[in-house]
Amino acid sequence: MSSEAPDSAPAEPARENAFASGKTVAESAVAILHAPMPEESNPDGFMHGGHLLKHIDTAGSIAAARHSRRRVVTAGLERMDFLTPIPLRGVIILKASVQLVGRSSMEVGVRVEVEDLLSGLRRHAASCYLTYVALDENGKPKQVPPLIISSPEEERRYQKASERRRRREISRSQTTAEKKSAGN
Ligand SMILES: CC(C)(COP(=O)(O)OP(=O)(O)OC[C@H]1O[C@@H](n2cnc3c(N)ncnc32)[C@H](O)[C@@H]1OP(=O)(O)O)[C@@H](O)C(=O)NCCC(=O)NCCS
Repeated sequence: MSSEAPDSAPAEPARENAFASGKTVAESAVAILHAPMPEESNPDGFMHGGHLLKHIDTAGSIAAARHSRRRVVTAGLERMDFLTPIPLRGVIILKASVQLVGRSSMEVGVRVEVEDLLSGLRRHAASCYLTYVALDENGKPKQVPPLIISSPEEERRYQKASERRRRREISRSQTTAEKKSAGN
């Protein structure tokens, strides 16, 4: 992570340095509009959660691929919150941004809003955090550029994502230890 240049620093040189050492959140951020189709509905006439998840994964993977400029795979998914049913009339807006990078992994947050086309009313419909891993030509994890944090909001997201990464690492090492002791 790099921090924002001080106010007194000349704008252009600071930006050049920042680009040389990493990528900003804005450089890879994604916004996708999608009009749900009838085949994406559940029996109650709302968008099926599995279809929504597919669009979330697509938006997240594009942000991760933009950040790394590599082929990426989804390593894991955390905190999928479905907040409100999504009616088939209207559009969903998926906003994905990289929140944290490790060596080869990137955590991406995806926020879904639903807009009623007749009233213009927009609601927060779902949120999800996913981890992607960049791969080299042999399919092995490959280092990605550092993430440049440019605003207090991005810093807040970065801190939250760091906490989640810490929890994930503890949980993964516990699982590995349990598998070892079970002889798997
Ligand atoms: C994800 C994958 C590439 C990790 O490979 P690996 O050999 O276990 O690699 P490592 O243990 O060295 O971990 C590499 C990175 O992935 C992260 N990672 C691995 N598994 C993870 C998981 N379940 N959740 C979050 N991050 C994970 C590690 O923390 C590490 O991050 P870092 O480089 O930033 O420190 C591998 O498990 C894989 O290919 N899985 C299948 C992916 C897939 O098919 N997805 C669905 C379709 S896209």
